[in-house]
Amino acid sequence: DLPLRVLGARSDLLVGTAVDMSAYNQDTPYRERVRTDFSAVTAENVMKWSELEPTRGQFNWGPADQLVAEARRNGQQVHGHTLLWHNQLPEWLTSGVASGEIDSAELRDIVRDHIRTVVGHFKGKVRAWDVVNEAFTDGANPVLRDTIFRQHLGENYIADALRWANQADPRAKLFLNDYAIDNVNAKSTAYFEYAKTLRAQRVPLHGMGFQGHLDLQYPIPIDANENLARFDRLGMETAFTEVDVRYFLPGDTYKTAGQVGSFNVLLQACLLTPKCVMFTVWGFTDKYSWVPGFFDGQGEATPLDANLQPKPAYRGLQQTL
Ligand code: XIL
Repeated sequence: DLPLRVLGARSDLLVGTAVDMSAYNQDTPYRERVRTDFSAVTAENVMKWSELEPTRGQFNWGPADQLVAEARRNGQQVHGHTLLWHNQLPEWLTSGVASGEIDSAELRDIVRDHIRTVVGHFKGKVRAWDVVNEAFTDGANPVLRDTIFRQHLGENYIADALRWANQADPRAKLFLNDYAIDNVNAKSTAYFEYAKTLRAQRVPLHGMGFQGHLDLQYPIPIDANENLARFDRLGMETAFTEVDVRYFLPGDTYKTAGQVGSFNVLLQACLLTPKCVMFTVWGFTDKYSWVPGFFDGQGEATPLDANLQPKPAYRGLQQTL
């Protein structure tokens, strides 16, 4: 019964979790699990723009600095999440852009400064950054999402963001990250083509993050290995960055078994891919998972139950590792 991080280390795989910093500071068994079971951590919220800079020019580094410091003490890598995302932006920014008080030229300066400031602050302490999160749309013909960044900085905003991040910390691995790209589909293919183009232009893009938010009512991404392999062949790192497997409550033995299988499909795909560096779950216990709050009627999406006891999904990960 070895901890996940010990099993992962045998195959050079970082096993990570998103960390909820309020749970971390209030719940000792939760904090202990983070330390004993994981070799990488991602801030579930505290590195997002709205959390880091709730008021313009006033940074709230405390919780993120704590996470980074404890990770160092625990011998864990930090996965930085996230520099640019259309959600959890500070109100001063979205309302300033909406009212026209912040024009396009100023937004460009703000975005560049944000990336420089944040990546600079954590320089040498964050192994990889999700530089842009969820940049593409869903559906049959994915295109760059119509965000304030795309609207005001132009479609090269991603290449610009990657270059700014690279200048601020040349050793950090720079990722794009998205959901619903775990298998070979239109959206993952759009990313594949996009990554090829950026890398041909020598834009510093080093990795592709596959969130892995699965839902048992949709097909299990059994071809995830093939999907990761094509990014691997481009010379990129790959990682599962936010894995959870939700279903409609109540659970039953079939859902439990389906969940075991789904976690394993993603973990297997990563283990089969030479440069798949990390397998991270989006929370390890049902006690604090984001799922019930965001998906009506669904839950039980993580490897440990609400009492922090291992579920079959946890045993499955141990066996696969
Ligand atoms: C979620 C967090 O888990 C919630 O606590 C927060 O309220 C909203 O964001 N994709 C991502 C993550 O990239 O940042 C999201 O995290 C989940 C979906």
